[in-house]
Amino acid sequence: MKNGQIWLDVDGKDIQAHGGCILQYRDRFYWYGENKDAPNCPGRRRVDVIGVSCYSSGNLVDWKYEGLVLKAESDPESPLHFSKVVERPKVLYNEKTNRFVMWMHLDSPDYSFSSVGIAAAEQPTGPFRLIKTTHPNRQESRDMTLYRDEDGTAYLIHAKDWNKTMNIARLNGEYTDLDGTYVSVMADQEREAPALCKHGGQYYMITSGCTGWAPNSALYAVSPQIMGHWKLIDNPCEGPNSRKTFFGQSSFLFTVNQKHYLMLDHWIPENLQKSGYSILPVTFDGDGAMTVRWVDTWNGPEE
Ligand code: GAL
Repeated sequence: MKNGQIWLDVDGKDIQAHGGCILQYRDRFYWYGENKDAPNCPGRRRVDVIGVSCYSSGNLVDWKYEGLVLKAESDPESPLHFSKVVERPKVLYNEKTNRFVMWMHLDSPDYSFSSVGIAAAEQPTGPFRLIKTTHPNRQESRDMTLYRDEDGTAYLIHAKDWNKTMNIARLNGEYTDLDGTYVSVMADQEREAPALCKHGGQYYMITSGCTGWAPNSALYAVSPQIMGHWKLIDNPCEGPNSRKTFFGQSSFLFTVNQKHYLMLDHWIPENLQKSGYSILPVTFDGDGAMTVRWVDTWNGPEE
């Protein structure tokens, strides 16, 4: 797979899973993301909502389309109406309930509603049903991700206050709601597109700046506790185009065989349908400093 370009599934069709995430369940990987398989709305930097796609793979390279697992709706009152915003879907498996739970950014067309939606399914390939929409802890929520810690506790990480500040909010045991505990971190730093991983006992968060679909510099932050004091460190990207995150934006961090990988979206604002992807290796030096370097191809995780 050529990094930076749109990738093809095993049927030779464009993979439509933007702003996505990867879930490992049993011996398969599931990639969920925004299906943007339509031309931009005339003169606008948007595609009307189609829904959330799911792809599955045994090796993270050959992806089989599993269909639209959450679909846009035609009722104008629905939070999933095609005129609205459904972005950055993230899915976790809940061991207690044996269900798959999806959280996503749900918004009005002008991004002023700023909420999250929570949906659940019995199978990784759906169908997902919307359970509720909420303003987490009565706060705004725009770009967001989920992070599941080793002890099974899960967190919603979401940009609030028009992206000024990031919140980390703990989920309930079923992952279907917040449990009321949260912290605000990186106050007034104006970051979005959060992605998290854990290495050497420390939590790492990569974020982008706030320039819409246009690429900017990534930054990473570190904390010894997920709800602790996060310290902004530096741009983790190195090499040519590292100031622009290699013309991409963070969508997800995942870990396979104890190696970490960063997934990027390469947005094409005037033709979002053709936006590309990349998966780049993430390395850490002995002091815990994080580095992301460009590689031209994604051939699957290292053994
Ligand atoms: C980006 C954000 C994307 C999308 C876009 C809309 O900053 O990360 O998920 O919301 O803005 O302009």
